[in-house]
Amino acid sequence: MPSDLGGPPVEIHRIGFIFAMRAEGAGLIDRLGLQERGRLDPDLPACWFSGRVEGGPDGRDLEVAIAFAGEDPQHGCDRIGTTPATLTAYLLCREFRPDLLINAGTCGGFQRAGASIGSIFVGGGDFLFHDRRIPLPKFDEFGIGRIPALVDESVRAALGAESGIISTGDSFAPTAEERVFFERERVTCKEMEAASLAGLSRDLGIRFLAVKAVTDLVDHPEPEESAFARNLSRVSQILEDRLIQLLEWIRVRE
Ligand code: ADE
Repeated sequence: MPSDLGGPPVEIHRIGFIFAMRAEGAGLIDRLGLQERGRLDPDLPACWFSGRVEGGPDGRDLEVAIAFAGEDPQHGCDRIGTTPATLTAYLLCREFRPDLLINAGTCGGFQRAGASIGSIFVGGGDFLFHDRRIPLPKFDEFGIGRIPALVDESVRAALGAESGIISTGDSFAPTAEERVFFERERVTCKEMEAASLAGLSRDLGIRFLAVKAVTDLVDHPEPEESAFARNLSRVSQILEDRLIQLLEWIRVRE
């Protein structure tokens, strides 16, 4: 069945998810009953899970895989950020060959864009990088990225999400200069992986979708890190419900 996920029609049978943190994606693995598949590379902590979502009377089966960059052995935390996410996504794409790659996870939102804790956004407009400042001709725009998001209105509606501009950087704490960038570019979600994965997906010719749930507000007096820690578990559950809703929509749509 052709996809209406944005861009030229393509059949969607195999869906790969990349989550940065185990806490963000563990619930979806349980809910879908996915099997652990081990490491994506023997020398890296990146790991994956896969399984089949069975079709109903009018639905088709979907093959689903979920990958994480894994835990950093030196620091004992998830390997968040662009480099581990891109490496993991590359390995998953080569191993699993998804028709659609979804980067799902949490983000910092902006009150001025109408976000509140638990709001869900899909990446729209262009994916940006806010921490790649390269003041040289051509490299300046390469640094910012502006990788087009190909997302259809029906996907947004299926998720019950808003569409917004996602900006990626490898720091959780923003600088004053980055805050100016967020205003100027009307950024809606600040997170740490999506633009890199959008770029990889474009290079590999794989349909890409970013789905982000707001754990904290960048333009709020409470520090992002304390709101993030308090809301991570609850917001990950909201995200899980919406991703199930999306899979169901993909499975049964005409
Ligand atoms: N993930 C969740 N909240 C975030 C924030 N404020 N900045 C970057 N990544 C995030």
